[in-house]
Amino acid sequence: MKGIILAAGKGTRMYPMTLPVCKPLIPVYDKPLIYYPLAVLMQAGIKDILIIVPPDEMYPFIKLLGDGSDLGINLVYRIQRVQRGIADAFIIGKSFIGNDDVCLILGDNIFYGENLEESLAQACSNKNGATVFGYYVDDPRPFGVLEFDKNGRAVSIEEKPSVPKSNYVVPGLYFYDNQVVDIANDLAPSERGELEITAVNRAYLDQGRLNVIILGQNFTWLDAGSAESLLDAANTVMNIQRMTGKQVACLEEIAYRMKYIDLPQLRELGENLIRTSYGEYIMQLADN
Ligand code: G1P
Repeated sequence: MKGIILAAGKGTRMYPMTLPVCKPLIPVYDKPLIYYPLAVLMQAGIKDILIIVPPDEMYPFIKLLGDGSDLGINLVYRIQRVQRGIADAFIIGKSFIGNDDVCLILGDNIFYGENLEESLAQACSNKNGATVFGYYVDDPRPFGVLEFDKNGRAVSIEEKPSVPKSNYVVPGLYFYDNQVVDIANDLAPSERGELEITAVNRAYLDQGRLNVIILGQNFTWLDAGSAESLLDAANTVMNIQRMTGKQVACLEEIAYRMKYIDLPQLRELGENLIRTSYGEYIMQLADN
């Protein structure tokens, strides 16, 4: 399975913060925002990852993550020249995806939960159709919103409805079979001029091939799309790390646990970061 991170948002809702540097590169507590979605793909066992970046901003991404070989993964980069919507990722990524299945994650989505890897494995094991997640929020209006029948089966999905049919929204993490490339290709832009990911999910729903995994309330999903939600996300990450003594989205740790790198490689990565608590954490792992 291939992975795509859509990290092309300029972050206009965060200006002037994101004028000199695009949103996925700004920090959430102690690491750049893009670490969080990248961690999710790595935890899903995905090693071939395309990062879609804004025009003129590829270099800082490469400076941060390179070709991924330090982490035992393969990273490639493409530019989204015009912001045409989330589903454009499958058009930009067509040759990268080839004949494979694909998982898309949005560059500003943060997931944390004890059972995350189980949910990811469940989504990866579905080889037919699409798998998305459902997550309860108090105000679903800014998101893609699911509706369920009395047996708990999804029956509709709407993008940013003014009158939502449930409180369950679809976070920015989607698993698709290869048909997604054709579906995205055939989409017409929505009223707001975007190729909507919700239209892709609706196409699968209409075919009876949309699976929904509900993420429980012990799960944390954060969309760091505004200055306020960014600060909330930073506080949440800090609190989780303090309470558990574990890092959220430590790429080096995940690479080691997933056996993408070995112990000497882990130690070397930790040594390069030793002046930070992040680096100390990696060194502790390497020494235990
Ligand atoms: C996008 C999607 C929406 C989804 C959300 C998750 O919203 O369009 O369906 O629920 O991401 O973060 P946007 O980022 O365009 O507000």
